[in-house]
Amino acid sequence: MPYEVDEELEASTNRVMMIGAALMFVLAAVFPLYRWFEPTNREEARETNLASLADSGQTLWGFNCASCHGLNGEGGVGPALNSKQFLQAASDNQIETLIAVGVPGSQMSAYSLDYAGPLTSEQIKALRVFIRSWEEDAPDVPDWRAGQP
Ligand code: HEC
Repeated sequence: MPYEVDEELEASTNRVMMIGAALMFVLAAVFPLYRWFEPTNREEARETNLASLADSGQTLWGFNCASCHGLNGEGGVGPALNSKQFLQAASDNQIETLIAVGVPGSQMSAYSLDYAGPLTSEQIKALRVFIRSWEEDAPDVPDWRAGQP
């Protein structure tokens, strides 16, 4: 029996194949779009999370640090941490370690739970992010270690 072309079946198969091809095209086009937007999403999430860390850092600062270092880090019994010189010299790591371990033999006690202090490492990180937020318009205080009388 010779092969018979069923026009109707042929047409409907072609239609389905066209739809499939169109869907594949859309799918292929969406991936680059996704790759285009994803870095922005990540960047925005980063900014939002840093802002909320800085917020909780500010609260922690008010309760734990402001009495010695000033409400805005301008110094007091303790050094002026809003100083451009301090902020440029100290790495994030150094600041967090200093807060965690404290300065033995001084009024700067250890704040990390690991050193019998009251704060988690996340809270110490929040404090560091808050302290870092001063850097953008930090005043010149070369003798920041002296604190404020
Ligand atoms: C009772 C007073 C007091 C309190 C409260 C206090 N500090 Fe201090 N802090 C000091 C003094 C004094 C020093 C200087 C220690 C030294 O080097 O002799 C210091 C030093 C520091 C330094 C190191 C600066 C350097 O020498 O590089 C950092 C950072 C710091 N404090 C952050 C904090 C943070 C954050 C808090 C709150 C969690 C805090 N301090 C609470 C008194 C205090």
